[in-house]
Amino acid sequence: MDKFIIHGGRKLKGTVEIGGSKNAALPILMATLLTDEPCIINRVPDLRDIRTTIKILQELGKKVEYDAGTLTVKAGRKLKTEVPYDLVKQMRASFWVAGPLLARFKKAVIPLPGGCAIGVRPVDIHLKGFEKMGAKVLVQNGNVILKTRKLNPAKIILSFPSVGATQNLMMCACLVKGRTVLENVAREPEVSDLIKALKSMGAEITQDAKGRIIIEGKSELGGMEHTVAADRIQTGTYIIAGAVTRGDVTVKDCIPEDNEILLDYLKEAGFDLQVGEDWIRIKPKCKKIKPVNIKTAPFPGFATDLQAPFMTLMCLCGGQSEISEDIFENRFMHAPELVRMGANITIERNTAKITGVKNFSPAVVMSSDLRGGAALVLAGLCAKGVSEVERIYHIDRGYEHFEDNLTKLGAKIKRVNPVTQ
Ligand code: EPZ
Repeated sequence: MDKFIIHGGRKLKGTVEIGGSKNAALPILMATLLTDEPCIINRVPDLRDIRTTIKILQELGKKVEYDAGTLTVKAGRKLKTEVPYDLVKQMRASFWVAGPLLARFKKAVIPLPGGCAIGVRPVDIHLKGFEKMGAKVLVQNGNVILKTRKLNPAKIILSFPSVGATQNLMMCACLVKGRTVLENVAREPEVSDLIKALKSMGAEITQDAKGRIIIEGKSELGGMEHTVAADRIQTGTYIIAGAVTRGDVTVKDCIPEDNEILLDYLKEAGFDLQVGEDWIRIKPKCKKIKPVNIKTAPFPGFATDLQAPFMTLMCLCGGQSEISEDIFENRFMHAPELVRMGANITIERNTAKITGVKNFSPAVVMSSDLRGGAALVLAGLCAKGVSEVERIYHIDRGYEHFEDNLTKLGAKIKRVNPVTQ
């Protein structure tokens, strides 16, 4: 399995361009199942999860071409309504095909997505919404079987503003005649990007003052030409990399307003932030990193996907910081690995108490999930000496050209495959 070898202790300096968002692209690719018309999607990052999604669309019957970031999806043979387990087990977001398949064929058979390192990851909110629209839900032999003669418009109040459930139910409702209202929805930028893509297909979707999503279902949708929005989590990760190495980093082609709360906390931590239309620059303003307490929350709150990289930063603060993970039940696996690099972190239920140390010490550490893996790389960039980060296939799920971008910023990092060493 590949690993990164990092010679740390160098300040990052320079500019990095941000690509399209993985978490915006995935549901938009699933939305192509809502039509037989050709769909062209630009700025699709070349990541493992995207490749898995392409395989799922092809397995279902779509013709997919992917070249230089542009993905073209066309009708192929008659679409299947069953997704194979070996693809779903690789990526739980595969479950997002349920909404489109149910809407078009009134049937879908999807393996129940297993949990992952960060939590059980149930899909009960998705299923309750489909039931509200009239689907019969059966969980049998590890599969979710959704079936109905007819789907009806409904008012659905999500028990939690789940990103995936909001997207799945919204895609389904686009082809259910009548008015469906989704309440207590996720407001992440990835949901807004999906709404933009669906509207370009002819879907009628509005959001009211209460933040509800109102869908007037259509009998069919057309194709799309859509460019995926910039990845706010990659943006935040590179900004934090600049902060933790006390460098001077500019991130370009991003959407600063998607990272507002992170920038507020970085200012509080003693950094100088300059923000333009589509760029952010970070430099140190104070000698020491000031401690900041954060709680993860649904957007516009602090993104759970940036909790791990931010913890790396707080490990070097001049005092005590508390980070509480209020979205996922097990998203601190990077903490013991950071402790192996000299950090001082104690975990009490969903709160990490961090006492800042002078610097990390180099070590061999192991990623358990994609954001935790990125956090370990950031720690390796600070530690004076040689660190190794193993199981970087996790990182490859969410960071395109990660080591190339960091090298461009002056890091000494290389990917090696120990099997061939
Ligand atoms: C999306 O996952 C992202 N993945 C995650 O990014 C991200 O961390 C998460 O949203 C929160 O922002 C994709 O977009 C592909 P949720 P999703 O449904 O939709 C619970 C990354 O690092 N829940 O908003 O699965 C759930 O267990 C990944 O890029 C239910 O209980 O997240 C969790 O505790 C990791 N029942 C919370 O809600 C449900 O039916 C938030 O989950 C659905 C969710």
